[in-house]
Amino acid sequence: MIAIDVRDLRKTYRVYRKQEGLLASIRGLFHREYSSVPAVAGVSFQIEQGEMVAFLGPNGAGKTTTLKLLAGLIYPTSGTATVLGHVPWKRELSYRRQFALVMGQKNQLWWDLPAQESFRLHREIYRIPDDQYQRRLDELTELLEVKKLISQPVRELSLGERMRMELIAALLHSPDVLFLDEPTIGLDVVSQHKVQEFLKHYQQEQRITVILTSHYMKDVQALCKRAIIINGGEIKHDGPLSDIVDRFSTFKVIELQFAEAQIPTGLEKFGQVFDQKAPRVKLRVPRKSIPETLTALLSQYDLEDVGVQDRPLEEVIAEMFTATRSDAAE
Ligand SMILES: Nc1ncnc2c1ncn2[C@@H]1O[C@H](COP(=O)(O)OP(=O)(O)O)[C@@H](O)[C@H]1O
Ligand SMILES: [Mg+2]
Repeated sequence: MIAIDVRDLRKTYRVYRKQEGLLASIRGLFHREYSSVPAVAGVSFQIEQGEMVAFLGPNGAGKTTTLKLLAGLIYPTSGTATVLGHVPWKRELSYRRQFALVMGQKNQLWWDLPAQESFRLHREIYRIPDDQYQRRLDELTELLEVKKLISQPVRELSLGERMRMELIAALLHSPDVLFLDEPTIGLDVVSQHKVQEFLKHYQQEQRITVILTSHYMKDVQALCKRAIIINGGEIKHDGPLSDIVDRFSTFKVIELQFAEAQIPTGLEKFGQVFDQKAPRVKLRVPRKSIPETLTALLSQYDLEDVGVQDRPLEEVIAEMFTATRSDAAE
């Protein structure tokens, strides 16, 4: 069953263009000049119930705007979307009880109060029955390991702890659809991992539908099988995450560890040397020539260890964006 159905959705922001110079500013008082920013420029996609999809793209691609539309925070310029059969921007109470939006860069909890006060407010807003509320709260605080912290003012918590509280607040009413906008932004590695593990566990258990935006490919690789790539408000790719890697990874990485402390010279003829930490070195090599390159390396050098890796996904996706950008420039 399709949970999220988006068709030719557009959001164009009208922004006042500030003029340079005094005369222009004075003129601007009478004739305001606007320019339009096509933040979301006609996107269409469908997401099945229980799917967890990554929404990837560079800054300004239109990810947050899309999520805001799906959460009913803003109205579209044109196009349609339904989430669990609801048109988000109609803002029906019945829809509000079925989804949650978590924004890593925005605090939704009361800063000076303990998190549990914000949770109680959510209980009221979403009319969560008492016993259900208590059960959910126990479950979530346990899973996220923050049981002892819910009576402490939010401002005293670390960023990672606060993020976990945000997740609890979002999940108390058991939404069926969850929009996660950069939920691990700025977190240290340990907190990031905890959030990741929690989301994975929770999603598998509850089978909720999730759209996740993240700059951290670790999140994406750990959690999503499908990725929608957006750039300049348009969808550039929609499919299995592995496709992206296959389609764009024409190169692989050979990692060598030499028996001697020194890295020998002349490695450039085998591939592009890009990471040297003697006695280890990494070479970027076209996928097709991996076998003969390995054979040559092994016969010429005294090696302690050899490994072949895929390139990091970050790199592959960054390349896709530069490719689309230069396409656009032509
Ligand atoms: N409230 C707004 N008013 C005007 N322009 C906006 C507003 N919000 C976002 N934009 C612009 O819309 C584009 C998409 O932004 P956004 O959806 O936040 O991208 P992303 O989340 O992918 O970084 C950007 O060019 C951004 O500057
Ligand atoms: Mg954003």
